Amino acid sequence: MEIKSVGVVGAGTMGNGIAHVFARSGYNVVLCDVEDRFLQRALDTIGKNLEREASKGKITVEQKDAAFGRIHTTIDREALATVDFVIEAATEKFEIKSQLFRDLDRICRPEIILATNTSSISITKLAALTKRPEKVIGMHFFNPVPVMKLVEVIRGLATAQETFEAVRDLAVKLEKTPVEVNDFPGFVSNRVLMPLLNEAMFAVMEGVATPEAVDEVFKLGMAHPMGPLTLADFIGLDVCLDIMRVLESGLGDPKYRPCPLLIKMVDAGWLGRKSGRGFYKY
Ligand code: 3HC
Repeated sequence: MEIKSVGVVGAGTMGNGIAHVFARSGYNVVLCDVEDRFLQRALDTIGKNLEREASKGKITVEQKDAAFGRIHTTIDREALATVDFVIEAATEKFEIKSQLFRDLDRICRPEIILATNTSSISITKLAALTKRPEKVIGMHFFNPVPVMKLVEVIRGLATAQETFEAVRDLAVKLEKTPVEVNDFPGFVSNRVLMPLLNEAMFAVMEGVATPEAVDEVFKLGMAHPMGPLTLADFIGLDVCLDIMRVLESGLGDPKYRPCPLLIKMVDAGWLGRKSGRGFYKY
């Protein structure tokens, strides 16, 4: 089945980036969230990011306007009944995603693929909540989505080869590079990245160095574009904590315990760049 229209559920940082890249590649997008203000904020962000791409000559002004025009927003999930593919990018909580997958399975045509942009939750478990486990798959993008080339394509235990191939080809059409990964907590990206960020937080908590010094070590010593604490603020400290908890419970190894400083900062509402304060002030 040719995919022409795509539903994106969740209009946050990842959802709006995903809507952006699908629209830029010619797909009609239905972007869905629970409140109009989230959708408005997403449209503002997409507009600014498309503008940035046009001003740098990566796309023409006509392509920018056409891409923006392909995005339709709605707070009515039932609007997803007609789309050819759905990707879910809602909050990283199993209870929220599980309810969503039950709803999507009921609303969407039985032949379409339901993908999730989850950064660590089990694809196999989400698939088992639907009547189409062979059509459920992970399609994990990276922030900022319009820039980062990688898409981790994650097979659940029941994911069909046909589903895998369709999503792999879709990633290529979005000008991304798909990398095949199996379903284990955190997949590859977050299983390796998050313990690094968490350990950087321990170094700050134990007074080994300041956040600035830790970041300098990684930028100058290992050529990372952002130091680990800047990156944690960029990803969102709440997201980092959620992923550490998934690794800790899913892999059952205490080496994945979240840093107490991370927990404290999330309790304080210091969530990084999006809340104006994290390891740095914005
Ligand atoms: N939309 C479109 N273009 C964007 C953009 C956006 N949101 N953000 C940045 N850009 C473009 C800029 O226009 C610029 O384009 P150019 O090269 O043509 O000039 C380019 O990206 C670089 O941006 P800047 O010059 O503004 O800034 P930097 O050179 O500092 O790069 C960065 C910014 C690309 C974010 C870089 O710092 C970086 O790569 N950081 C690491 C990001 C990272 O590791 N992401 C993965 C996080 S983990 C994740 O997402 C998984 C999840 O599950 C947690």
